[in-house]
Amino acid sequence: MAENSTPRIVPLRDARPRHIPIPAAAMDASSRISADGSLRDRLQRPLRDLRISVTDRCNFRCSYCMPKEVFDKDYVYLPHSELLSFEEITRIATQFVAHGVEKIRLTGGEPLLRKNLELLVAQLAALRTPQGKPLDLTLTTNGSLLARKAHDLKAAGLQRVTVSLDGLDDAVFQRMNDVDFPVADVLDGIAAAQAAGLGPIKVNMVVKRGTNDQEILPMARHFRGSGVVLRFIEYMDVGATNGWRMDDVLPSSAVIARLQSAMPLVALEPAQAGETAQRWGYADAGGRYDPALGEVGVISSVTQAFCGSCNRARLSTEGQLFLCLFASQGYDLRSLVRGHLDDADLASAIGHIWQGRSDRYSALRAGMPPDHAQGAKRVEMSYIGG
Ligand code: GTP
Ligand code: 5AD
Ligand code: SF4
Ligand code: SF4
Repeated sequence: MAENSTPRIVPLRDARPRHIPIPAAAMDASSRISADGSLRDRLQRPLRDLRISVTDRCNFRCSYCMPKEVFDKDYVYLPHSELLSFEEITRIATQFVAHGVEKIRLTGGEPLLRKNLELLVAQLAALRTPQGKPLDLTLTTNGSLLARKAHDLKAAGLQRVTVSLDGLDDAVFQRMNDVDFPVADVLDGIAAAQAAGLGPIKVNMVVKRGTNDQEILPMARHFRGSGVVLRFIEYMDVGATNGWRMDDVLPSSAVIARLQSAMPLVALEPAQAGETAQRWGYADAGGRYDPALGEVGVISSVTQAFCGSCNRARLSTEGQLFLCLFASQGYDLRSLVRGHLDDADLASAIGHIWQGRSDRYSALRAGMPPDHAQGAKRVEMSYIGG
């Protein structure tokens, strides 16, 4: 077949520039929104959680996120000049915190690939909420560099980490990460994070039916009673390159049923408003929750959408603000911080953007045909961050 006859999926980022214009009112001094924590979107959802992607690169090629066929040696990543600097990130984050953000998560790609990340961590760790409280400052990582970096991250002020791990069996895990990365090295990273005090540690496992679902019980047995909170994530139709099919999704209800067949669980109350995971506690012989055994979680964005309480905003590596994981375009905050706006203008722009938000993709997906994901133009998760 001639080379150019092979259909190539073009990741959305290649189609730049593609920004949503900043609302005109944001630039008008007479309609300025000041940051006082009372911001609500059109569905009355507050802004509490900011996820910041610090790189679009990763050393894994998980099939559900950066499939090898697309993210190959010819794939063009963002050049360094396009990335927000740590100072720009901190300036933007400061205004989000003034608006009510209490949790900041650093993501990627793989965030630990960004050079000197501890310097950014230290800047963000110094921020305080309007009530004077430190932020819940955390990071999502594939764990490959964690053993090397856990100590310095903790020293810089990071509070906790979430590690992605899709199985305990090397053959299965390597089928998921697609770069032959061994399980033992991720477990070493988790142990180093525990030793450094980066807890409570969470482990996220994306479940693909027929690929790694046989790892559900071994993973649960391994982490039960270890102080690590394991969460099972329904494989999502995020991005436009992973070839998602509903048949590959194992519903969380089936995950819980499998766990229940081997170890009794009891439902726990949410720890916080707007949480992604439903929590289940391991029970003792009397059927009561045993805190020494700990808990597991399920994140069911496909079968039980949680958009109604979604308080999450996402800042891409190059400074675009996305209001939903499934959005196809973002608002170009980088042009604002590289322009002549002062902090009050920046806060006002963020306020106007959030006030106009009505995104609730997962809730709407329930009514869509099962194969709607094909050809959709959605931003990649490796670019926007989980
Ligand atoms: P904790 O504060 O540690 O509980 O983190 P979290 O659950 O808010 O964040 P995390 O990044 O660990 O989320 C786990 C996974 O849930 C992500 O990797 C996504 O797969 C999914 N997820 C997170 N946020 C959203 C969201 O807003 N929408 C959807 N559909 N899925 C999400
Ligand atoms: N479905 C569900 N979760 C995903 N992640 C990435 N791609 C997907 C997907 N298609 C999440 C996983 C991973 C984190 C970095 O991003 O939780 O651990
Ligand atoms: Fe990398 Fe995480 Fe995406 Fe896997 S899921 S390719 S580790 S960013
Ligand atoms: Fe929030 Fe969009 Fe996820 Fe719904 S699909 S929970 S609106 S990020």
